Amino acid sequence: MSQVDSRPDRMPRHIAIIMDGNGRWAQLRGLERNEGHRAGLESVRDTVRAAGELGIDCLTLYAFSSENWNRPKEEVGELMRLLEYYLDEELEEAMEKGVRVRAIGRLDRLPPSTRAAVQKAVEATKHNGELDLIFALSYGGRTEITDAARRLIRDAELGHIDPDQLDEKTFSSYLYAPDVPDPDLLIRTGNEYRVSNFLLWQIAYTEIHTTAVMWPDFRREHLERAIADYQARERRFGRTPGQVAADGGEEPSG
Ligand code: FPP
Repeated sequence: MSQVDSRPDRMPRHIAIIMDGNGRWAQLRGLERNEGHRAGLESVRDTVRAAGELGIDCLTLYAFSSENWNRPKEEVGELMRLLEYYLDEELEEAMEKGVRVRAIGRLDRLPPSTRAAVQKAVEATKHNGELDLIFALSYGGRTEITDAARRLIRDAELGHIDPDQLDEKTFSSYLYAPDVPDPDLLIRTGNEYRVSNFLLWQIAYTEIHTTAVMWPDFRREHLERAIADYQARERRFGRTPGQVAADGGEEPSG
């Protein structure tokens, strides 16, 4: 029986996940690390399906970080291959279920075949409207902020931006996916408690749920547990408990 309160106003709109523990899952079973990544693919499928069914608007998956480029060449190659395989395999279901595939990160660093697979899925699903499935690929939060600053400075030099008028809203419009609301809930699997350069700007007020479950074992029940944990918390956005009650639990607008 699900512990989730499925009323739309109680559900997180955007869930972001740091999928960790593939390597350890494999090692524990005497398998190669890549076997863990392969097994992790099933968790991606199950989680995406569950998120859609639960009515989540956006799901961002940390599939490959800027730092992951430092892994052995064979492991990087396998992760790219798995991503290509997933995007190709799941396209039909994405169309059926109204999943819009998107990607954030330094996509220019991806191998041409991976970039092409991403572009194909993004293009084919761009009019879908049920669930935004955002893959963070070759992604780093500090790089995202630096990239935003670079574009902003250029616009300032061109006179499109007045530095004295710069505010958080304008700055965030330079991030990779400015239309996506900040995550309400960040889940990290694999018994680790770090943010690991993920969505640094966007998680300022995000609730964090960590679990010892290794990513290849993560299933809908774990997603539901994380959502129930989120729903049990009070998001104060800097206010006192009394103010929160007076505002009806809503996020302050200003
Ligand atoms: C972390 O486990 C996971 C990754 C670096 C990548 C996540 C990739 C997948 C789930 C495979 C398929 C993905 C998609 C999107 C199709 P780790 O290797 O850091 O685990 P460890 O900390 O136990 O070594």
